[in-house]
Amino acid sequence: MSADTAKINAAMAALDYVREGMTVGLGSGSTAAHFVRLLGERVRQGLVVLGVPTSEATRSLAEAAGVPLVDIERVTRIHVSVDGADEIDPGFNLIKGAGGALLREKIVAAAADHFIVIGDDTKPVPVLGAFPLPIEVTPFGFSLTAGRIFEALRETGCRGDDVTLRPGAEEALPYITDNGNIILDAAAQMIPNPHALAAALKRIPGVVEHGLFLDMARTVIIGRDEDALIQEKE
Ligand code: 5RP
Repeated sequence: MSADTAKINAAMAALDYVREGMTVGLGSGSTAAHFVRLLGERVRQGLVVLGVPTSEATRSLAEAAGVPLVDIERVTRIHVSVDGADEIDPGFNLIKGAGGALLREKIVAAAADHFIVIGDDTKPVPVLGAFPLPIEVTPFGFSLTAGRIFEALRETGCRGDDVTLRPGAEEALPYITDNGNIILDAAAQMIPNPHALAAALKRIPGVVEHGLFLDMARTVIIGRDEDALIQEKE
């Protein structure tokens, strides 16, 4: 099975949740990009929607795909937001942020009436943590912040505690987010208590946002070769 076919099937299934007149959060990453392109096709066929992009990359993609956009400062309601994930646990808790867009993704997902996660079958996991957890931090004092993150990983029982600065396209420089911050990737390996870790990270000055998206997703769509498996939160 091609991973792309599975991602496209997930994105196509998510389109069924979009109705005329909706304001739609547009996620970031390769799976969300399929959704944006397919939504653009529907717009060309006459569907009226407004998109709220979660990254500058998605903004460019949506503009190219012909999805009309609305400035987030003018939005009063986001009906549905569709985004990818790096890991999805059985309770629909997620790790997100491999693409570095986690802050805007979380703001948009939290504002949406309905948050839909799309991915292929590499995304579901029994326990979060094998995928390094992205944490957006301020450049000021990031070494001290990394130390506090290390402590938070230990105190909340994570198996790993390695915290690394994400490099940019030029290895000598850090990756810079759309918000002018940097990303620390925490190799927790296994996160036994995601809520405790999320709370501990939120208490650290310098942490802007982390990639644990807990109790937010209502629908998870896993694309397969021929179709997509749709799961709704009970
Ligand atoms: C970007 C994200 C992405 O949604 C996540 O990394 C999944 O990406 P992909 O669909 O390419 O596997 O959180 O910040």
